[in-house]
Amino acid sequence: MHERNIFKNDKPNFEQLAQEYPEFTPYLHKGSSGKPYVNFKDPAALRALSVVLLKKYFDLNLEIPLDRLIPTIPLRLNYLHWIEDLLNLNETEECGDEFLGIDVGCGASCIYGLLGNKMNQWKFIATDVDETSCKYAQQNVEQNHMQHQITIQHKRENESFFESVLSQHPQSQTKLFHFTMCNPPFFAEVYDGHVTYNRTNRRPSPASTSTATESERATEGGEVSFVERMIDESLRTKNAIRWYTTMLGKKSSMKPLIQRLKDAEITNYTTTEFSQGRTTRWGLAWSFSDNRPPSKLLEKPSKKKKKAKPFIMSFTRDFFVETEILNIKSTAKSTEIDAVVWDIVKVVEKELLDLQISLDAPEHIELMNSGAYELTGKAFANTWIHSRQKRRKEKRLELVQDGTTICETQDGTNSCETQDGTTSCEIKPNNQDGNSISSLNQASASFANNSNHPNQDGTQSYGKRTLDSISFENESEIRNPKKLKMDDEDSVNKYTNKEHETNTNELKMEKISTELTMLETNIVECPLFTFSCTASTAKQLHATGGRIPALSMLCLEGDREQFHQLFLHLKNKLHGVQISPL
Ligand SMILES: C[S@@+](CC[C@H](N)C(=O)[O-])C[C@H]1O[C@@H](n2cnc3c(N)ncnc32)[C@H](O)[C@@H]1O
Repeated sequence: MHERNIFKNDKPNFEQLAQEYPEFTPYLHKGSSGKPYVNFKDPAALRALSVVLLKKYFDLNLEIPLDRLIPTIPLRLNYLHWIEDLLNLNETEECGDEFLGIDVGCGASCIYGLLGNKMNQWKFIATDVDETSCKYAQQNVEQNHMQHQITIQHKRENESFFESVLSQHPQSQTKLFHFTMCNPPFFAEVYDGHVTYNRTNRRPSPASTSTATESERATEGGEVSFVERMIDESLRTKNAIRWYTTMLGKKSSMKPLIQRLKDAEITNYTTTEFSQGRTTRWGLAWSFSDNRPPSKLLEKPSKKKKKAKPFIMSFTRDFFVETEILNIKSTAKSTEIDAVVWDIVKVVEKELLDLQISLDAPEHIELMNSGAYELTGKAFANTWIHSRQKRRKEKRLELVQDGTTICETQDGTNSCETQDGTTSCEIKPNNQDGNSISSLNQASASFANNSNHPNQDGTQSYGKRTLDSISFENESEIRNPKKLKMDDEDSVNKYTNKEHETNTNELKMEKISTELTMLETNIVECPLFTFSCTASTAKQLHATGGRIPALSMLCLEGDREQFHQLFLHLKNKLHGVQISPL
């Protein structure tokens, strides 16, 4: 959260908001513990919250239809404060004292124009391709008496972003525009109710509903192509605008866009991360002027962060048996290694999502000239410490429903009796350090037992519980490398492409549309820690073990002890063994 963001140290108090603004009262619920909460799956509740926050903190009156994107305020403020930071340097005479900005895609709320004008008296030309959004934007501007400061311009989809504005507005003849800003539609094309996703663009299932329309959430080629077009156009408009900026919804978009800037020989650019609650967005700004961004915007991550040591694990045989992932052969080609590492990162992703950890999509990264996959995430609550207890409870419930009797033994272990009186399993309590007993041992034992004692139907099960917990929606297609001839590069490509198609076709429009809003809704929660996981070979991760697959986990910020617990939990769940850095 930006240091000047009004919500950084002043978390909105929902009860107080409801008292002050009765229109918000219907959306305030109480949990079983009496804690007030807002149901972010309800677009009307989301809208009510944004509207009252704008009213209370900015004296702004907003009307947003329920079928358009509802802006979450802390995120929008972070972007505006970053532009303030960029502009501090650029108060030059030629700009005069009136700050002029262009908002590309203002939406129905016209949120940047309204907030930017309210906070800083900035003037705006706000454009959008959606006629309905433009009508609402105009109405919002007028009901806040800002029509002399904010001009709404409806434009056609294929019209230029900036030239169409510069040519129509007299300001541009005499003055520079100070900045452009944009919150582009994130996703790629919408086809028959499905959005094209690349394979890394999967996120936790959404917790709230989005009201965004197709043009708000999707654009041909996704945000990369959208911003590339902006960069290309800026090569023509150059110094007519001081800072070209955009927000990005995906970290992976940053790399190709920086490459595009470099290819165009634009060297004056800067990036940032907007972090608020569970949501992370990224900012990219570039300029043709000599004014560099303020040095505080160019600061590198602190040395402390860099010095943190990762925890690294490799995987035992049980992991490969349970997940049906093929281990890396000594003769494996890089594409084969890549496919195995991808499968592993998907298993890790699933485990983390099950723990309600907020994750960015896995990204393919280069590590010592070879491929690796990286996941970054934020943990908001310690869900792993009790997960074993929860599983025990579920198991007990299952058995009770099956008619199985559960007896608590003297030493605190539970033995479960089946109808025919045989003892089917034994569930032990947590060990003393508070971590769950290694599921590696449990699974190994279960594997050993099962291999001697087949199930009644003649099949054998290997730690079924764990297998179920890492099942995938389209498991047979995604995670069955056995079906592949892994020595053939084409097969590997087909495999990954197949996965891509399957994922794409599976993702329902509704699910995707929720993400825009969902990821913005948890307003000011502070994470326990943020971390990254890198899946690759031990060698690439600078650990002992050569070409064996390995997972490195690094705490980037926050509570390292809780992070270590998470690592131990995952190690147990995934039948991992900790390995040492070289
Ligand atoms: C993600 S929404 C952002 C809306 C608003 N700025 C906000 O932050 O809540 C993206 C907006 O861009 C608009 N848009 C899409 N393509 C555009 C284009 N080529 N030029 C201008 N606006 C566009 C959409 O209609 C939509 O209103």
